[in-house]
Amino acid sequence: MSSGAVLLEVRSLTKRFGGLTAVSRLDFDLREGEILGIIGPNGAGKSTTFNLIAGACAADAGEIRFAGQSVLGLPPHRIAARGIMRTFQHNRPFGGMPVLENVLVGAHTRFRSSLWRLVAGGGTAEEERQRRRAEELVDFVGLGGLHGADVGTLSFGQGRLLEIARGLAGEPRLMLFDEPAAGLTPGELERLAEIVRGIAARGIAVLLIEHDMRFLLPLAQRVVVLNFGAKIAEGTPQEVRRHPAVMEAYLGDAAAL
Ligand SMILES: Nc1ncnc2c1ncn2[C@@H]1O[C@H](COP(=O)(O)OP(=O)(O)O)[C@@H](O)[C@H]1O
Ligand SMILES: [Mg+2]
Repeated sequence: MSSGAVLLEVRSLTKRFGGLTAVSRLDFDLREGEILGIIGPNGAGKSTTFNLIAGACAADAGEIRFAGQSVLGLPPHRIAARGIMRTFQHNRPFGGMPVLENVLVGAHTRFRSSLWRLVAGGGTAEEERQRRRAEELVDFVGLGGLHGADVGTLSFGQGRLLEIARGLAGEPRLMLFDEPAAGLTPGELERLAEIVRGIAARGIAVLLIEHDMRFLLPLAQRVVVLNFGAKIAEGTPQEVRRHPAVMEAYLGDAAAL
């Protein structure tokens, strides 16, 4: 499962906001088809790490290599074009657009295809392939039957699934999830876990940021633990759960353990 080649290499990654070091000399690797979790208390630097990898903010120091090439300093659309897609901590649907069109935006983002022809049909063979794939992805995340529904009519949990389908439409080699479990019902959490496993089974590497360890630990093959921007532990879910520094960091937040 995690025996693939190293896909993402993060080295000494550092980001400061004024006097605050949000990410501090962070090192980790992610292999092809692997599910790697990043956990840590609120403010630990998880989202900032994602923003650095996705190009949404600039690092102060360090290196990020993807598939053997540096992606540090590239704008977000160039990073997406390399094969890194993300979901956001808060759903960001394109309002007033049907479900399928929202997913097609993901293909458009990655491949710069004509969004109009993707939506209207009658495009190139490649655009038709992207359209068929978008339809298949809507079904894969469990929104089959809702292809034409306006996104405004979706529940919160369905909106989260839509975000995932939109990311996958860009045919990523690495998918970044920022707290995907937040706000979901127990039934939706089970569905989400199945989807994440299905994504990894397609050979896509998954980087999963999660505050909720009960959701993450059964899913991840390996876990990196952050606190105040620094890595305080790394290992299998079993190893990090018992790590004294992790228990210390989560002290007073027993519900998250
Ligand atoms: N754009 C920003 N400007 C200033 N401080 C920020 C910004 N983004 C994040 N921070 C700070 O950086 C730290 C890490 O934040 P974040 O990466 O969002 O943590 P997490 O996702 O683990 O909860 C926090 O102290 C947060 O307040
Ligand atoms: Mg966050």
